[in-house]
Amino acid sequence: MTIAFLNDQFLPLEEARISPMDRGFLFGDGIYEVLPTLHGKAVGMNAHLDRLQNGLDELAITNPKTKAQWTELVSELVTKNTQALNSSSVGVYIQVSRGTEMKRAHGYPDNIPPTVFAFAFATAAPPVPDKAAVVTFDVASGEDKRWQRCNIKSTSLLGNVMHYQQGRQAGKQEIILLNSRREVTEASSCNVFVVKGGIIMTPPLDHQILPGITRKLVIESLAAEGVEVQEVPVTAEVLFSADEVWLTSSSKEISPVTSVDDKPVGNGQAGDVWLKAITAFNKHKFTL
Ligand code: PDD
Repeated sequence: MTIAFLNDQFLPLEEARISPMDRGFLFGDGIYEVLPTLHGKAVGMNAHLDRLQNGLDELAITNPKTKAQWTELVSELVTKNTQALNSSSVGVYIQVSRGTEMKRAHGYPDNIPPTVFAFAFATAAPPVPDKAAVVTFDVASGEDKRWQRCNIKSTSLLGNVMHYQQGRQAGKQEIILLNSRREVTEASSCNVFVVKGGIIMTPPLDHQILPGITRKLVIESLAAEGVEVQEVPVTAEVLFSADEVWLTSSSKEISPVTSVDDKPVGNGQAGDVWLKAITAFNKHKFTL
């Protein structure tokens, strides 16, 4: 049994209840974060809390907690659940919805308290920095059919959920999405990096992608080692002729992709540049 947090109260997750009139439930009107911790230490906490603030600002929801209070909540949830989860890799999910109103109306209501929900869960172990032993991903590709505000980490994830399922129906573990210009945006729940001819590329930040915290930490970790990542459009042609493709997210860190639509990426194995990147990430991830 794990302990969750709902509106200022810790309680068993199974006992957590919200009103069906919560706007998070009715409209997906809320913002969320997933924060990774390893052996109780958070990765990118400050950046996650900055992104939470940006998302709440976009939705004109007042942040119900200060950074110090969120940090305290995350650490309390990890502590309270360490025994039950029995894992050194623990993710903390936090969600702020606009709150509950006893009528269903599109317009933002005035002055209702946001609903705050958080819980902790065990995540897969991070990728091992070993080309032969790392868990690799076979992915599909498909046209990105989501909305034009993918930079907002909204709980309205139906577009992402449907794309993830599309990948799963193709027998794959993720799907890399291409916009109408046939440029890579991101994957259904990860950002994408591509290596070609020694150049590391990732699509630039705009409305088409989530500004991933892992993406940011990967770019900064490599920069700290003197390695540049180019934030440039990545065409389908580059994707399908890449030497390496990586997925990045809080739970996958930097994970190598070994095939896209059944076509091998490079030699079909994790690459040398990936090894350099995960090594740099592991060196810097707790301090950036
Ligand atoms: N997914 N792009 C999308 C669409 C995502 O949902 C995520 C994260 C990322 C990577 O962001 P970050 O590095 O900050 O985790 C990119 C989370 C983990 C999820 O929804 O479970």
